[in-house]
Amino acid sequence: MFFVIIRLMLTDQIRNLKNEAIGEILEAKDASEIENTRATFLGRSGKLNQLTKEIPNLALEEKKHLGQLINEVKINIESAIEQSLEKLNVKNFQNKWFDVTLPGIRPEQGHLHLITQAISEITNIFTELGFHRARYPEAEWDWYAFEGLNMSQNHPARDEWETFFIKDLDNKKYGKGVLTPHTSSGQLREMEKYSPPIRMLNIAKCYRRQSDMSHAPMFYQFEGLVVDKNINISHLKGTIDYFTKKYFGPDRKSRIRPFHFQFTEPSFEVDVTCLICHGKGCRTCKQGWMELGGSGMVHPTILKNAGIDPEKYTGFAFGWGVERVMMMKYGIPDIRLLFDGDLRFLKQF
Ligand code: PHE
Repeated sequence: MFFVIIRLMLTDQIRNLKNEAIGEILEAKDASEIENTRATFLGRSGKLNQLTKEIPNLALEEKKHLGQLINEVKINIESAIEQSLEKLNVKNFQNKWFDVTLPGIRPEQGHLHLITQAISEITNIFTELGFHRARYPEAEWDWYAFEGLNMSQNHPARDEWETFFIKDLDNKKYGKGVLTPHTSSGQLREMEKYSPPIRMLNIAKCYRRQSDMSHAPMFYQFEGLVVDKNINISHLKGTIDYFTKKYFGPDRKSRIRPFHFQFTEPSFEVDVTCLICHGKGCRTCKQGWMELGGSGMVHPTILKNAGIDPEKYTGFAFGWGVERVMMMKYGIPDIRLLFDGDLRFLKQF
């Protein structure tokens, strides 16, 4: 009972001290007055510490309670001091330094990263042709990345896609987990989701075990897939031409060369005239042409795998690197420049 009475008395006194201190702080006219108040209340032999002297004589329960209260009050007073000092500072600054007639300081303004810029530029071009933007998983099953695209296990064609496999991830139906090595994994997913007519533009990150001036272990691809009745190679070539002129400029030309992919038949490699020599042939290109990426007519087996009748429907597909087309457009010599975040480089775009 005795302890409780003491505790109540002390509680009252502590609260009074707090009000007194905050009152003084609010009325203070300058920083030195505030510092005085700090010393009077929070100093080593200040008023609060005087009160704490009584505490060790109390019972445990009361000690705890009062200890907590004193801490809270200290924090309250400190923050009132900080706020008042800040207000006074601002006032001082305004009185002495703020010249409203001076021109302002323009904040630094950034811009979207150039890969993001390229992605929206590419998306806009294909949107004009009626493609819709899609994005499919980066962590993917073997089925969508390989098996379902006509590349059975141990097929040598897989070697080209130097793949990262995900440890301990194995699915009875879909096989191993992989970091998708190309956006072609979106083909089956798109065809499972929608029935023809399909005009997909799948832009996503891809991963391969590779690293040099023109290859990074993580990079972006954009994949076009068109499936409809009576789709033929001229539709593919027309789409490639449209993109080439829109993205690279009206003076650039495109061509297709025979190639092989397991999931397209026939398959083509797509080239664009060289930025530097415009088709004449120079040190940076192959006799005037630069390689853009793969394309072809969708293989009937792939349509079948997605439940689409290859007798009724045909389609074309292409898959190109976002970084690669940028490098070809601007003459960027090293893919790593795109990922380094060096402002001297980025600011040029
Ligand atoms: N996926 C292929 C690659 O990564 C490119 C490609 C896409 C080829 C679509 C044909 C059709 O190289």
